[in-house]
Amino acid sequence: MVKSIILAAGKGTRMKSDTPKVLHTIFDKTLVGYVIEAVNKTGLADENFVIVGHQAEKVEDYITKTYENAKCVLQSPQLGTGHAVSMALPYLNDFDGEVIILCGDTPLVTEDTLKSFIESHRNAGSYLTVMSAIFDNPTNYGRIIRNTDGSLNSIVEEKDANAEQKAVKEVNAGIYCLNWAKIKDAFGQLKSNNAQGEYYLTDIVKWANEQNLKVDAYTLKNNEEIFGINSKTHLAEATKMLNRRVVQKHLDNGVTIVDPETVWISPETEIEPDTVIYPSCYITGKNKIGKNCKIGPFAHLRGDVVLEDNVKIGNFVEVKKTTIKSNTNACHLSYLGDSEIGSGVNIGAGTITANYNPLTKVKSKTIIENEVKVGSNSVLVAPVKIEESANVAALSVVTKDIPSWSLALTRAPLKILENWVKRFKK
Ligand code: UD1
Ligand code: CA
Repeated sequence: MVKSIILAAGKGTRMKSDTPKVLHTIFDKTLVGYVIEAVNKTGLADENFVIVGHQAEKVEDYITKTYENAKCVLQSPQLGTGHAVSMALPYLNDFDGEVIILCGDTPLVTEDTLKSFIESHRNAGSYLTVMSAIFDNPTNYGRIIRNTDGSLNSIVEEKDANAEQKAVKEVNAGIYCLNWAKIKDAFGQLKSNNAQGEYYLTDIVKWANEQNLKVDAYTLKNNEEIFGINSKTHLAEATKMLNRRVVQKHLDNGVTIVDPETVWISPETEIEPDTVIYPSCYITGKNKIGKNCKIGPFAHLRGDVVLEDNVKIGNFVEVKKTTIKSNTNACHLSYLGDSEIGSGVNIGAGTITANYNPLTKVKSKTIIENEVKVGSNSVLVAPVKIEESANVAALSVVTKDIPSWSLALTRAPLKILENWVKRFKK
């Protein structure tokens, strides 16, 4: 099995944030989370080492809580990317497989690319493979220097490059695959006599060449995948790129998306064909949407939402942690959270599931069985169950279970109005 080393010790000054850079999120998932999951989804790797430094505790706390097969390793102080990788040496003493090295701030890398990268490394019989990319504007990247026969010679950092090297448009994408047992010796021999005074990971290419260990470069097809995040502008751009990718996938699968420019769909949302998503919807987290549903315009699905076929979620409806069976409508102005809703249900305009008790801080469940009709502007105070085919009259505040086929009518009592009148009279 492959192991990964994910570099995430850098400061991320340009984010101007109290949150460590790699814990910033896109669709509620952290940047480093995307990288770990891409590695895990290749099915080729079994363990991830995340190198942490700045705000190490916060990052470590998150990683260990979230990913079973990820371990954090502290790098302090941060003396460069080569130094960062060397922090993992004690954990990989006897390891004899491949290690892939990635950055924690490039969330758009895909499992398909990583798989084909590792396969290419294996097929070439290479000891060290570097991912490269061709950029019209290669500024700031390390340049890939090739020999006259096209083989990989070395990587030269922008700050160390001469004019001829700077003109090279093939750059180091920052992802590496190495046969650990052979290449790990390089880390004890890196020097920091360069423009930045750092121990460069990139120097392992030259080292491997000197040892006559075969090195290779793999050229990335889609440059978006190594888009690195250093600022809030980058974060917004990456979110847009990822969204475009997801929207395109759904369009290709037969989902109608009226305006791809204003619809946001998280990568973990499944949607079946012939569902229509109207403009200005925000769909985040993990969701499953069936066939022939209609979502939006202006709907907000916040995650853990399951919609069966023919469900309508209309304008200004927010849904969270809720399962809705087929042929149910919630067409206008509702909040449905922590709920189980049956089929053939009508949720009237303005219906709210009051799922949160701010005094006890407890969230409770609302159960609405098949064929229930909930009248407009009703508040369903959880925990509560409305049994099959019951009717809730408009403006009801439902605080106890409603038996099936009954009519619930608990409108705001007139007393309140009388009290108001008394107050005005004083
Ligand atoms: C690095 C590469 C460069 C490549 C580019 C791709 C080196 C020397 N250069 O440059 O060839 O084109 O990435 O993006 O590797 N980090 C640590 N500890 C450290 C230093 C960095 O964990 O001591 C982490 C950073 O948090 C970041 C990653 O390593 O996630 C890359 O570091 P950064 O300084 O951004 O590298 P670049 O200068 O961009
Ligand atoms: Ca640097």
